Amino acid sequence: MKKILIFAALVGFVVACGGSEDTTDSSSTEAEKTTASAAEPAAPAPDGEKIYKQNCIACHGLYGDMGASGAFNLQTSELTVDERINVITNGRNTMAAWGSLLKEDQIKAVAEYTMTLKKD
Ligand code: HEC
Repeated sequence: MKKILIFAALVGFVVACGGSEDTTDSSSTEAEKTTASAAEPAAPAPDGEKIYKQNCIACHGLYGDMGASGAFNLQTSELTVDERINVITNGRNTMAAWGSLLKEDQIKAVAEYTMTLKKD
């Protein structure tokens, strides 16, 4: 009876080790993937139009002139890209700050996209 218990304990031990080995395996594969993608020469630049459509049209509209919630018309905005980056990152009055939601290069991309909405 005792022998069976010891055997069971041994099997349990082996299974436990096997299990943890699996975890190590998958995490090292994960690390390899991360390294591989980081080594890729040109990471795709964030798509400003996509970011705009996902986050900004609720107030500014598809063409920048919807003006919901008092949103400024981006077709007539005179702000420079840098000034827009500042408004988008830090927010202004009812416009929310996106600095914690979007990465710096995403904010830059979406600010540049809003420049294309401009009509003169
Ligand atoms: C909740 C509604 C809302 C959303 C969503 C929103 N905005 Fe705005 N936005 C505003 C409002 C309101 C203003 C005017 C702020 C003020 O009164 O000073 C504004 C102002 C701006 C301005 C300044 C324009 C100017 O001429 O002064 C820019 C640039 C801008 N938004 C870009 C964006 C971008 C890019 C996004 C998406 C990442 C976005 N906004 C999402 C409401 C919004």
